Amino acid sequence: MYRANEQRYDKMIYNRVGDSGLKLSAIGMGLWNNFGSVDAYATQKAIIHQAFDLGITYFDLANNYGPEPGSAEENFGKMLATDLKPYRDELVIASKAGYVMWPGPYGNWGSRKSIIASADQSLRRTGLDYFDIFYSHRADPATNPEETALALDQLVREGKTLYVGLSNYSGAQIKVMSAIFREHHTPFIIDQPRYNLLNRDVEADVFPELVAEKKCAVSFSSLCQGLLTNKYLKGIPQDSRANKATIPFLHPAQVAQTLGTIKQLNAVAANRNQSLAQMALAWNLRQPAIASVLIGASRPEQVLANVAALDNVAFSEEELAQIEAILAAQPAIDWNAK
Ligand SMILES: NC(=O)c1ccc[n+]([C@@H]2O[C@H](COP(=O)([O-])OP(=O)(O)OC[C@H]3O[C@@H](n4cnc5c(N)ncnc54)[C@H](OP(=O)(O)O)[C@@H]3O)[C@@H](O)[C@H]2O)c1
Repeated sequence: MYRANEQRYDKMIYNRVGDSGLKLSAIGMGLWNNFGSVDAYATQKAIIHQAFDLGITYFDLANNYGPEPGSAEENFGKMLATDLKPYRDELVIASKAGYVMWPGPYGNWGSRKSIIASADQSLRRTGLDYFDIFYSHRADPATNPEETALALDQLVREGKTLYVGLSNYSGAQIKVMSAIFREHHTPFIIDQPRYNLLNRDVEADVFPELVAEKKCAVSFSSLCQGLLTNKYLKGIPQDSRANKATIPFLHPAQVAQTLGTIKQLNAVAANRNQSLAQMALAWNLRQPAIASVLIGASRPEQVLANVAALDNVAFSEEELAQIEAILAAQPAIDWNAK
């Protein structure tokens, strides 16, 4: 029987999400990959236990996480029913709808029909009475923003989620949605963009909008799927994401394109007495708009190492300038290359 570490709240940092009452652990645990039906359940449990034992309270799901799609919610639901049940009120559990989940015209995007049905499915798969945050996973160009916003609002009114969030929306789209949420007093508090040392588009577009709206971000792929770690410095390990057939999102081509930059960033991290992964997470947390940085992990030791990033989150002007110079020399990366 799992019993959580009694010291779990001693070291973790909790950041307030914009002007809401909610605080999130500065590091959040993502279940996009490594928590599916194709992954060892014992390892999944060990990762989640490690995360909660270190004070991570934010657990990030989506309808389609797996693979198979839906299986990450089922597996997390199993853990909730057994090990984590006594701790439900210590957890912030999020899910999302917006990417393809079931066949036909309703299993995708952001219509009221899709969002409500998907949230109901996610509640059934996890066995939860409610989510803490429910996100629109991406903006739907074919649906009026008001329809998506009011579908999320309905989830709040029906007690199916406490707060709502957006993910992969542009700054302009966030502005439009914010205005609708404000009008309806919908508790929209958070945006979830991709953000890391190698993906900085949201700095100019999304972050200023969030700050102006007194909202926050939780960054995803904060380690660029593992590129921003020491994992690929000496080649592509067999058991790494870039080599896994079950995870088709990171390829050897991206390792090759970034290796020179990664080596230089690794040297800066070493001078700070940090691993590259720890420096990458600390670098994300320097952004005033960011309340939490999501991490993925394939083993519990990675969670332990990553949470230690919080031991040094300060950067000198010189370190920041060094990092900028290294990033400026990185040629454009083809993220679709295989
Ligand atoms: N909203 C969205 O559209 C969206 C999109 C993507 C992700 N997300 C969310 O963000 C979460 C994190 O995304 P991500 O999985 O791309 O995260 P990430 O943290 O950028 O990458 C995770 C991978 O990095 C490697 N890693 C982590 N810590 C390490 C360490 N200390 N040393 C060496 N390698 C390490 C592991 O790779 P190996 O498997 O190779 O060991 C791990 O699977 C997801 O789970 C999900 O919740 C959201």
